[in-house]
Amino acid sequence: MKTLPIEKILQSQGYGSRKWCRDCIENGNFRIDGQVFTDPKFLIDPSQHEFRVFEERFDYHEQVYLILNKPSGFECSRSPTRHPGVLVLLSDPMRRREVQPVGRLDHDTTGLLLLSDDGGFIHRQSSPKHHVPKTYWAHTSEPIGSEVSEKLIQGVQLNDEPHPIAALSSKVISPHILEIVLAEGKYHQVKRMIAAIGNHCARLERVGIGRLTLASLSLPEGSWRHLSEDELALLVAPPL
Ligand code: URA
Repeated sequence: MKTLPIEKILQSQGYGSRKWCRDCIENGNFRIDGQVFTDPKFLIDPSQHEFRVFEERFDYHEQVYLILNKPSGFECSRSPTRHPGVLVLLSDPMRRREVQPVGRLDHDTTGLLLLSDDGGFIHRQSSPKHHVPKTYWAHTSEPIGSEVSEKLIQGVQLNDEPHPIAALSSKVISPHILEIVLAEGKYHQVKRMIAAIGNHCARLERVGIGRLTLASLSLPEGSWRHLSEDELALLVAPPL
């Protein structure tokens, strides 16, 4: 059992500066399991209780692992330049915790985006060594020929790449939707691979990371939530 002073619990969850958290507690705005606590130094095991700050309920998370259904029109960079950054879609406490996107999607790509404040997790998920496959649905301008998946699996030559780049797998979902599974994430990789086969990617969605699928999450575009332990475990395995 690990106990922490309640002012530290509140501050660690991104609710504000130490002074703000202390004042909030001393002024009677912090409840543990429904009961007001006014001593900021009071020690408690945060994993065992339900907290409320100004009536807003929160559970304690030592580190956070979030999934966002990214809409189009948001950049994944922490210092966005031409479009708002995805972090504006999170709550204020999450932004204060310095949560970061895991890898990047283009501003016009939609779908699954992980975010976390756990540096080790971000590194493992982004590292090519760990090969967490990402599944994309590319909506194409031109109809997709039946030979296209085979070509992508064999590898296509992209400008500025020394060797052909191959998809792990690919299949035609409908005349204008191609599924592509990639082990790595080079700059504009899906769009460039589609261009290399003589088509154009008009819209791109990331529908899977490992075995975690967008369809299984019931997460409306623009929404986010914490991943469960079971969902986190799906991030390491190859897609079925
Ligand atoms: N490939 C792309 O072209 N864009 C993305 O956002 C992700 C993969």
